[in-house]
Amino acid sequence: MPPSAIPEPGVRPSDFRFHCIDCSHWSDSASPDYRCPRCGDLLEISYPEWNKSGMSSRASGVSANDLKSTWKQRRLSSAPADLSGVWRFRELLPALNDGHVVTLREGNTPLYEMPQCARIAGVPHLSAKHQGMNPTGSFKDAGMTVAASFAHHAGYRWIACASTGNTSASMAAYAARGGMRSLVLVPEGKISWSKLSQALDYGAVTCQLRTDFDGCLRLLQELVLRAPVHQLNSINPFRIEGQKTLAIELMEQMDWQLPDHIIVPGGNLGNSSAIGKALLEMRDLGLISRLPKLSVIQAEGANALVRTLREAGGKRLIGVNAETRATAIRIGNPASWKKAVRVLEATGGACEQVSEVEMAQAKAEIGAEGIGCEPASAVTLAGLKKLVKQGFVKAGERVVLILTGNLLKDPDFTIEFHRGDLFAGTPHESTMTALSTLRRPPIVLDATLDEVLRTLEQADKTAPSG
Ligand code: F0G
Repeated sequence: MPPSAIPEPGVRPSDFRFHCIDCSHWSDSASPDYRCPRCGDLLEISYPEWNKSGMSSRASGVSANDLKSTWKQRRLSSAPADLSGVWRFRELLPALNDGHVVTLREGNTPLYEMPQCARIAGVPHLSAKHQGMNPTGSFKDAGMTVAASFAHHAGYRWIACASTGNTSASMAAYAARGGMRSLVLVPEGKISWSKLSQALDYGAVTCQLRTDFDGCLRLLQELVLRAPVHQLNSINPFRIEGQKTLAIELMEQMDWQLPDHIIVPGGNLGNSSAIGKALLEMRDLGLISRLPKLSVIQAEGANALVRTLREAGGKRLIGVNAETRATAIRIGNPASWKKAVRVLEATGGACEQVSEVEMAQAKAEIGAEGIGCEPASAVTLAGLKKLVKQGFVKAGERVVLILTGNLLKDPDFTIEFHRGDLFAGTPHESTMTALSTLRRPPIVLDATLDEVLRTLEQADKTAPSG
């Protein structure tokens, strides 16, 4: 028998309802496309029993400090739900009646000091929360454990998603763990082989569609109305609830001493929405006393949120034809743009864009720190540099970057960068020479001691100064 999870007297997972983000319609259930039955906008999960003065009435008498110590205490437990860095925080998640969670021990991701990148960006305190250290190598696992558990609980045989690669890898793994089948829709030729190989290995039915991510997502939305498949994109609000725990765990790792600024990449904008929701809820529940700024960084070629804010004041979505080597965020019509706009407004964060070259440079700098990440994650450091130059991030501020994907997710990008042909034949080609000091191309030699010694000597002369 598995060990049982640590409950705490008076602390219980929360009852929830669905709430439309636009017309505020409340409902106890959601249609398969997770759209509001009245206005068609997105739904979010809300907890009507929570009140501003503390925890829910069902958990009355429980203070923020009790919650913090319960969560800490669970680190000593070996029950599956407590070993999960997501379900450990289950009081802030929707209650799962049967308590059976589909888990790969997600979450529990490291927070790294980044002294070299701090110097480069010009800030005194910089750290990175590495969500790429999750079981399938991206932040998606935190949301997927919750969405897959609820799909399993509801008895679905098939779960499905549209993806730029990471969602599909994660969903396929959790489907397999939960005994469900999975259907993946990805844009043909536009996702990395690593991510595609994960979906195949975890047993998904994988369709490479001749369209982009936005086309895949549109098709999925129609499919779920016609076939008994359950959609697990971040339109599914259970995903958002799981992804909230990134922010809770971050605060715990910082001993509840808030950073001034959190910086996250923006694609379909589910993650920024989730982090923002967590920050607001933690403030309302008295777990934190103020809000850090949450800023979203996009690639210049996939900058729908940047344009939506600059050209339409955040009132209507300005979609784009997305193009970037950071295939994870190659998204032109982000589904959660309204949620992200609200989060930026509530926390006072900024929305910036970075070029392909700025992103490639930042990725190499994160790699040189011994951390590494996939290209989409590196927009955070590139964006931070811009925000410092603009004076938006002030001297002395404590900044946390959210690295969303593992270095091994896109080896082609890394190898092409170091070989020097990442931007061959593109307008960025000439700018690449400026990055030559960061490049470490592989060296082919005859297998002799002399050759290796000569190479070592040469490299020692050009070693980067510490
Ligand atoms: N970083 C990585 C590594 C991603 O895979 C994604 C999104 C993002 C950032 C952007 O996050 O969409 O919540 O704003 N990947 C999705 C996918 C779309 O299908 O894997 P977002």
